[in-house]
Amino acid sequence: MGSNASASQAMELEEVARMLSPCGFDVIIVCCSNQAAENYWQARLEQTVVQVTGTNAKVVAVHEDWNGGAGNGLGTLYAYQKARDKASRDGFDLDAKLSGGASVALFHTAGKGTRLAPLPGAENNNKPGVKLPSLLEVGGAAQPLTVLEAVMRQTSSYAPLRGGRISVFWGDQVFVPSAGIQPSTHPADILAALRPMPSKAEWEAGQLHQYGLIAVGTAGDATQLEKVDYDTAKAYLPPDVERVGTSLGSFSLSAALLAALMAEFAPELAAKCACLDSDPHFWMPLTLQKEDYLAVMGKKGTPAGEAAAHYARMAAFAAKFAPGGGGILGCVDVGAKALWWDYGRLELYQTNNLHAAEEGPSPHALRTFLKLQPQGAPESDASGRQQRNQLGAGLTVHPSAVVLNCRIGSGTIGAGCVLVNVTAPEVEVEAAILMSVTSAGPVRGKRGVLYNVVHEGSEPLSADAVRADVFQPGGKQIVVSSSIETDGGKAWKVTLPENAFSFEEVYKQNQKLDVSECQALGAAAHKRVAQALETLERLP
Ligand SMILES: *[C@@H]1O[C@H](CO)[C@@H](O)[C@H](O)[C@H]1NC(C)=O
Repeated sequence: MGSNASASQAMELEEVARMLSPCGFDVIIVCCSNQAAENYWQARLEQTVVQVTGTNAKVVAVHEDWNGGAGNGLGTLYAYQKARDKASRDGFDLDAKLSGGASVALFHTAGKGTRLAPLPGAENNNKPGVKLPSLLEVGGAAQPLTVLEAVMRQTSSYAPLRGGRISVFWGDQVFVPSAGIQPSTHPADILAALRPMPSKAEWEAGQLHQYGLIAVGTAGDATQLEKVDYDTAKAYLPPDVERVGTSLGSFSLSAALLAALMAEFAPELAAKCACLDSDPHFWMPLTLQKEDYLAVMGKKGTPAGEAAAHYARMAAFAAKFAPGGGGILGCVDVGAKALWWDYGRLELYQTNNLHAAEEGPSPHALRTFLKLQPQGAPESDASGRQQRNQLGAGLTVHPSAVVLNCRIGSGTIGAGCVLVNVTAPEVEVEAAILMSVTSAGPVRGKRGVLYNVVHEGSEPLSADAVRADVFQPGGKQIVVSSSIETDGGKAWKVTLPENAFSFEEVYKQNQKLDVSECQALGAAAHKRVAQALETLERLP
């Protein structure tokens, strides 16, 4: 490894160490899609928050009950309002804590996760509950880490620099900043991967017209732009723009700005009407010139009168909040060379989980983050890749494989496999992901993803493709098959030949059900088959 490469790897590992250190947010708010999900996350996070973030945070799960959806701007204010009310019932004064310097994080979890189908279905629509290869201790048993918890662990490294602020995150990706943890300098800021202002050719080569963008001038003030070509950007941006980058959408607000926004939008919050998003309705009117704002909103189909009225409202708001005229929006740079592990699409779920069984600096950093590699140990130390297993003498495990909480009799776990909570008499797998699988027959195959699968028959279970099982009351077990090449976003309404239902139909069935109840039914099905195997003495 060259010295530049090893220096950047040392930095990546230092960033991961920060995420693992005991310094998370003081308060964690989770905004869920319904009451059952709220109950699930309240109970789960109270048990895991210390292991996940290093801090015994006050956990407040809430859900959004708003006609037609509030948008992520009003949705953030509404979630905070609901969390404040819920916490006050335990005598916890959220406003006072925040203005007194507590660091507060808010995680939005809504969304169907169509592109990750069929996995969110197997979690009964609890998309943030999709599992990753890392273990937590929950109620005396080992449980896989969820995507939401991974996002919480990662973002916890921002907590020490964000006292007295609320930080808003969306989660299905984990990143390791290459710019360190940069401080907040403005009442509001957005995370972005900044680079020097590109030339027209670089802009086109980087396809920057496809992204929400943040531009930063010499004084550190930021401008929010949305999906524009180079010439439009040049026209909209102030002449002193030094750096520009893709926005992560994630923002933070000072206690004072949050309070001012809550007061400004109090009528909407009381009526639970309107839908306002943070980018087009908060940051763009606060940072663009009026005519540019009207042009952008016109392209989005907003009537000019409506856009002009909103612009005037936000201008009056800014004049009242910052009478001196100082910039309200800043930018927190994550660096142009940040590592990204995205779990928002099935194919990326496969790639970024198989990554944990690969060699090199990025897999090493990922394993350290997932606690599959002792912190500070050289990459050659593979001792963390196998945890809490009961493996038979007749089983061969390739040293690259990640095998956690498994009970397997014989066979081969080949190169590049990731197996978590697998119970089976025999496996013969290569580069496969098996997450929560209980099989009475041998599991055989390559490059498949088996997720929450219970297979009772003695015939082999194929690990060549994608399969996720959905458990519902009334003893229902729906087997949903797919392939890595199938994009659930495109095939959402299609009933694939091997399935009884489309992904959307499974989603709609799950919508009426209680996630905790369904998950308990699934766990019981796994246990029943495992116990039968045990009685037959087919497990080590
Ligand atoms: C994982 O295995 C443990 C038993 O070791 C069990 O209690 C838990 O429910 C399993 N979790 C999943 C998601 O399979």
